[in-house]
Amino acid sequence: MLQSHNPTQAKAWKHLENLYQQAKNKTIKQLFTENPQRSEDFSLNFENMYVDYSKTLLTLDIKNQLIELAKFCGLQEAIQAMFTGQKINQTEGRAVLHTALRNAFINEPLILDGVDIKIRIKQVLEKMKLFCNRVQTGEFLGYNGKKITTIVNIGIGGSDLGPYMVTEALKPYWVKGIQTYFVSNVDANHIKFVLEKIKAEDTLFIIASKTFTTQETMANAQTAKAWFLNDVGDSQHIAQHFVALSTNSKAVKDFGIAEDLQFEFWDWVGGRYSLWSAIGLSIALTIGYKHFEDLLLGASKMDDHFKTAPFENNIPVMMALVGIWHVNFCNYNQLAILPYNQLLHRFPAFLQQADMESNGKYVNRHGETLDYSTVPTIFGEAGTNGQHAFYQLLHQGTQIIPCDFIGVVNATSDHKNQQDILFANFIAQTEALMNGLSIEEVCKTETNTKIQPFKVFQGNRPTMSIVLKDLTPYNLGSMIAMYEHKIFVQGVIWNIFSFDQFGVELGKKLANVVLKDFEKNTNTHDGSTETLINLYKKWVHASI
Ligand code: F6P
Repeated sequence: MLQSHNPTQAKAWKHLENLYQQAKNKTIKQLFTENPQRSEDFSLNFENMYVDYSKTLLTLDIKNQLIELAKFCGLQEAIQAMFTGQKINQTEGRAVLHTALRNAFINEPLILDGVDIKIRIKQVLEKMKLFCNRVQTGEFLGYNGKKITTIVNIGIGGSDLGPYMVTEALKPYWVKGIQTYFVSNVDANHIKFVLEKIKAEDTLFIIASKTFTTQETMANAQTAKAWFLNDVGDSQHIAQHFVALSTNSKAVKDFGIAEDLQFEFWDWVGGRYSLWSAIGLSIALTIGYKHFEDLLLGASKMDDHFKTAPFENNIPVMMALVGIWHVNFCNYNQLAILPYNQLLHRFPAFLQQADMESNGKYVNRHGETLDYSTVPTIFGEAGTNGQHAFYQLLHQGTQIIPCDFIGVVNATSDHKNQQDILFANFIAQTEALMNGLSIEEVCKTETNTKIQPFKVFQGNRPTMSIVLKDLTPYNLGSMIAMYEHKIFVQGVIWNIFSFDQFGVELGKKLANVVLKDFEKNTNTHDGSTETLINLYKKWVHASI
């Protein structure tokens, strides 16, 4: 169990409030002048990853107080509780063991409710491996003997964002001849455009849903099934073209998927932390099982680092603490995720769910309303595209928005000149956001006094730089795990439960009420909602 606390009662919290009063009169630029070692003092290395948090207002005092705060909040005990399978998802009575999914290679039992879950994890991994090999070698064929070359993953949220992000990021590793699609939106346009491109005979539909009840996924799965049967005729052929990734065996069976084609996972794997489980089957089929294992291994190495490194050298801990500093003391309530790598274009979307669904909460572990902020709004876009969209706001907006810049040194494309341009932009942006451009500097090149103020950049905008040497499955696994643990640390400090998501339920429930009301003549909603329902009914019929 996690102990409950009020972080604002920590002595360190008060110290940090005072330190902010001093820090706000400084600039990050000044901190670099004062300490020539700043870059070394405020950066960390992990294998082929470098994390630089020196372009922030953190000083040694601030760093020490943030670490004191983490200790006050019982972080070490919480880490221990998670890794050993204590039921820290208290509102749902579940353990949180996505970390166990990636160290199944290590022969240490992990007992949960009397069962060694490592054995079960290994069984599912073995089944996934075998299946990937059978598909790749052509031992598992479509109904008319054609090789499976098209994968369609149908899922949403954690059953889509993780696998989609990873397969996009690892495009250079795709198995030759495999084409993978992801369908998530209940808007039928999503599945329609995929179905238009594919052939039933060589397609494998992966129905990915932890609960196997999610409205969007079930609607898309039924559409796919109807399309398939319309083309193929015989429902027996479903066995060669549909597999399920789920914790709900009964619902999978009812859908018509055979037991041997259900890849199981468990309630102690949160949806947004599930890409490491059977939910990763689309990844394994797309990049090959061996590369999927490398992804797990990279994550597992980050887990070891997170478990053992002292807080001041611990990358997820320090990233989380910098975030706490920004949200709770500097009052910066947004965070931009800016990967300078086109292959990571889905990474901001993935982190939106991971972070905001985990820590977007206003109730503490006692069920009381918090009087401090929790997760910032996460948004982002691949660089350099974002530069031509919203960076104006990052540089000259009225709000200060901390940014995580993510760069990959070695491109997998052949155009070294473009990679140089990309990386130069990454570095330059962090420098520009920090240094800004003073009126004196502007005056050197702009003589029109009316125009001069518009060209001033205040600077002093904090950034973190996360640099990977290469975008390999292993390094990607480490980076994802790093962010997962950062989210965990922040949830611990904020004294909230990071592993439930009750906030998504109300809208889902009401959608079903509204759906029924489309069929009725009266309803009991407010004026606005009722007008929208009636408008839909009027216009939808008019357009048929
Ligand atoms: O949106 C809520 C949510 O429960 C997410 O947490 C989850 O990742 C997603 O729906 C999909 O759920 P399932 O895998 O059960 O279909």
